[in-house]
Amino acid sequence: MSTPGAPTPGAPSARASLPPVPGTDASQAGAGSLAVRRAVHQLVCRAAHGGAQGCRVLDVGGGSGVWAVPLATTGCSVTVVEPSPDALASLARRAREAGVSHLVTGVQGDADSLADAVADASADVVLAHGVLEVVEDVPATLAALVAALAPAGALSVLVAGRAAAVLHRALAGRIADAQHVLTDPDGRVGPRDPLLRRFDVAGIEAALVAAGLVVQLVQGDAVVSDLVPWPVLETAPGSAAALAELELHASCTSPLREMASRLHAVATVAPRP
Ligand SMILES: C[S@@+](CC[C@H](N)C(=O)[O-])C[C@H]1O[C@@H](n2cnc3c(N)ncnc32)[C@H](O)[C@@H]1O
Repeated sequence: MSTPGAPTPGAPSARASLPPVPGTDASQAGAGSLAVRRAVHQLVCRAAHGGAQGCRVLDVGGGSGVWAVPLATTGCSVTVVEPSPDALASLARRAREAGVSHLVTGVQGDADSLADAVADASADVVLAHGVLEVVEDVPATLAALVAALAPAGALSVLVAGRAAAVLHRALAGRIADAQHVLTDPDGRVGPRDPLLRRFDVAGIEAALVAAGLVVQLVQGDAVVSDLVPWPVLETAPGSAAALAELELHASCTSPLREMASRLHAVATVAPRP
């Protein structure tokens, strides 16, 4: 399991010297910070022994392809399992526009019916980004994701962070909501909260370990960038690049990591005894 503030040795590191990450421009907005995109890129390169070419990616709850299409442009073959037909239509359009329709397969389904959609042990990398906070049963979903993983595969999860949700609400003057998110067992604002839960670092690590996984990395996504007002970036030359650099370092530095809007974890299947 990772030590707070420091990636596990041998795990993808946000600070290591890394290969260039394709598609890391503004068109990637929504697909996580550079730290997360680098970690995912490393996963697919490792799975494919160098380049991403041929890596089999399963993107559960992949929406309109924010992750799937850029990964396909690097040569991955990506299956998106997604309940929303509208999102699948957008995925198909995006894939067509990017010229990667042959590498992207959209399947209507959800985490509960994953076994109907994809064969067991068929994915080198499984993504579940923005999904564990909306599913009914986290252990059941994780079990389905693990079943889809090839023996040396890796799971990447991106989940809503509880601490950031508290801070953002407090800064917006929504003190009662902030208190609720802090004290509710699931980190919810209330019954009308669209998210069923929010995670802290210990919570996401515990869920992954309970699913039989070894946690390789937990880093923050949007640690500081969600707090910086955009006008500041527009008026000060070079500040966007400086913020990206700050974000990269903050993503794996405690206690900033723990305060990220989203927590990104990478886990692999535990070796059999
Ligand atoms: C916040 S969006 C994230 C989309 C995409 N993964 C991304 O990172 O941009 C959550 C997605 O999960 C899908 N979803 C909701 N319930 C799901 C379930 N039970 N199983 C799989 N996906 C689900 C939604 O339709 C939506 O596309």
